[in-house]
Amino acid sequence: MGSTDTDRAFFGQPRGLVGLFFAEAWERFSYYGMRALLLYYMTDRMLDGGLGIDSADARSLIAVYGSATYMAAILGGWISDRLLGDRRATLLGGVLIMCGHICLAIPAGAGALFASMIFIASGTGLLKPTISSSVGDLYARDDPRRDSGFSIYYMGISVGAVAAPLVVGTVGQTYDYHLGFGIAAVGMALGLIVYVRTQRHLSPLSDRPKNPLRLREVPRGRLAGVLTGIAALVAIIVVTVATGTLDAGGIVNVISVVAIAVPAAYFTVMLRSRRTTTVERARVRGYIPMFVAAVAFWCIQEQGATVIAQYADESTDLNALGFPIPASWFQSVGSLVLIILTPVFAVLWLRLDRSARPPSPAHKFAVGLAIAGLSYLLLVLPALGGGQSNPLWLVASLAVVTIGEMCLSPIGLSATARLAPAAFATQTMGLWLSSNAAGQGIGAQLVKFYDAGSAAAYFGLLGAGAVVIALLLLAVTPLIRKQTERKAPSGDRGAGTLSGVER
Ligand code: PHE
Repeated sequence: MGSTDTDRAFFGQPRGLVGLFFAEAWERFSYYGMRALLLYYMTDRMLDGGLGIDSADARSLIAVYGSATYMAAILGGWISDRLLGDRRATLLGGVLIMCGHICLAIPAGAGALFASMIFIASGTGLLKPTISSSVGDLYARDDPRRDSGFSIYYMGISVGAVAAPLVVGTVGQTYDYHLGFGIAAVGMALGLIVYVRTQRHLSPLSDRPKNPLRLREVPRGRLAGVLTGIAALVAIIVVTVATGTLDAGGIVNVISVVAIAVPAAYFTVMLRSRRTTTVERARVRGYIPMFVAAVAFWCIQEQGATVIAQYADESTDLNALGFPIPASWFQSVGSLVLIILTPVFAVLWLRLDRSARPPSPAHKFAVGLAIAGLSYLLLVLPALGGGQSNPLWLVASLAVVTIGEMCLSPIGLSATARLAPAAFATQTMGLWLSSNAAGQGIGAQLVKFYDAGSAAAYFGLLGAGAVVIALLLLAVTPLIRKQTERKAPSGDRGAGTLSGVER
């Protein structure tokens, strides 16, 4: 098995990274392929093979679906840490995801769509945090290659994401929706094959739960309480859905609230816990404003699959290049830009980090969020013009938001790992994913206000809002720095030495 400093088989990186790179690339291919097609499948007329769902409802549903998917990562992280271990959780997750795509490959209407959503949300919740943490486990605690390892891994995500809309989206939109979803299922199957064939190169750490749950240690009362809680929740859901009290709109609202409540509760528990040291508590407090900025960022970036997909379809001149551009192709622009710019950013960060005044992660977050705001402000002009705008506006906006993503997303992974309290290190990957969940949960409410007629106001308000939050973050960066850079007094229990990615 891998996990040694001497393993440099893959561009100086451990061999295990190759398998994780390609397995995650295929998993993302299936996820983003499905997502590129979903809005069109849901809103298309039944006669044309769609489900005929109202487009505002569909946008909200897609947003809360994405939100639930990443929220499930906290639970997935817990299951891996305490019960299954990363390797088994990743495998199980992959199988569930594949089942989810197969549900959509069969033309079986709305029921199959909801079954698919449940499979994919739970599968992704298991796979995404565990595969990321397996990347971290490839490196010894102080291995300087870990950051670049994560950048390479993030590029794998983009390789899958760029190919997906072009293949799944094009086949689905031009031939048949279910054929498109079928290709997503094949993609996930290929990811599983890659994973199974390369898993022997993973760290032994990925093979067992990090903090195994021993039933004997769990107080009887607590176990009963948790089981009762779960049973009550399931009963409430079944009864409200069956009686029609909770319709699609209601579910959207519930998930939006839960998506904000879950990370808020998680932070409260971390801050209150006796297992969090004083220094760690300060670090968590410093991390919170950055988390809020990440929520705002994902709220805008993830609208690429909802509002921007609709703008591409309705308000863009898709014949401007002399041939009909499938609207789903716009979903690939961001990932393509990310792949092209990754080497540029690698050099940029190296230079900046070595400069006299290296930017803190909070600075990079603020810049990333402000840039996301600009990507929306850029769309005000063409939207004001009304009618069908030139597709280059959309391409430019998507390129800009991706530059913001490069300032925020990979930096977020390492900042989360570094600032995690030791006692909570195991679930930090899930917490980071939940920033995206909260962003999409808020997005699910905002996208309801979008329509082609008022697009300029929508883009203007949201863009300006993002810039304002970025400026606020910038204003508090000195405070954040003070909190996050506090040194542990001697005798303080190993705070900050255990990172979330290595557990
Ligand atoms: N492009 C990222 C990915 O698919 C989006 C993301 C970021 C999702 C952070 C969750 C959390 O991995």
